Amino acid sequence: MKKSKLQVAVIGAGGRMGQEIGEVLSQRKDTRAQVGVVRKGEASGFERSETSLSAPALKKADVWIDFSTLESFSANVKAAVQAGRPLVSGVTGLTEKHLKELELAGKKIPVLWSPNMSFGIAALRKALAVAAELEDFDFQIEEFHHRHKKDKPSGTAIYLQKTLAQHVKGKLPEPLAVRGGGIFGVHKVWMMSEEETICFEHQALNRRVFAKGAVQAAVWLANRKPGLYTMDDLFGGF
Ligand SMILES: NC(=O)c1ccc[n+]([C@@H]2O[C@H](COP(=O)([O-])OP(=O)(O)OC[C@H]3O[C@@H](n4cnc5c(N)ncnc54)[C@H](OP(=O)(O)O)[C@@H]3O)[C@@H](O)[C@H]2O)c1
Repeated sequence: MKKSKLQVAVIGAGGRMGQEIGEVLSQRKDTRAQVGVVRKGEASGFERSETSLSAPALKKADVWIDFSTLESFSANVKAAVQAGRPLVSGVTGLTEKHLKELELAGKKIPVLWSPNMSFGIAALRKALAVAAELEDFDFQIEEFHHRHKKDKPSGTAIYLQKTLAQHVKGKLPEPLAVRGGGIFGVHKVWMMSEEETICFEHQALNRRVFAKGAVQAAVWLANRKPGLYTMDDLFGGF
């Protein structure tokens, strides 16, 4: 029997990431860009557009992906729980309150949140866990993003900082954030001792890298048990 394609709904479908995710969904053989949720107008590249999360088409989706904004984050998580749909969220700028909401949602539905959906950042976090065991090093994270990015420092910089904090004794300096031009995302992690320096650098060359990761996460999450997952789970812990 022919396996049916995974039906995916994308919240924020009219945005930069939403459009990119729509293209990835249409290009893959196993997924459909079934519904694009927008605030107004049409979501180009999606089979249908909706402006309300309570629309019946959203209930039929196998999984939801949210790449809208922080302002609508809580309402979107709540709606996914009410609809009983697995949720992948890539929205950044979350506070402790938002993280708590994700934790509670994870008791009812499968939820995967990551401030960076690229496979490279998942690998970098693993590498940092090893390198940060070295003693007598100072650390500094730097990040560069396009001029439209709202949150500062980036969700990824905070995520990398949290990774370091799990392994480094003492206080870490705040990440340095630069905004300008059209940079998709550059993250550098400096390690500096009296005798040597190490610099890990990750560059997103386009938005496609995040879109591909988000769609891969959606495919993976669709049949999971309720729980709060990260990209680390996707790779079986690497
Ligand atoms: N996790 C990752 O790997 C990753 C990578 C890149 C970006 N991000 C994050 O993803 C988010 C989106 O980024 P972006 O660059 O795509 O931003 P963007 O271009 O501003 O897109 C956001 C879209 O969401 C729409 N939106 C806002 N509230 C909505 C609602 N309630 N229902 C439906 N649509 C709604 C906006 O519509 P209007 O235009 O009408 O306001 C806009 O089209 C940000 O938080 C960003 O930091 C995450």
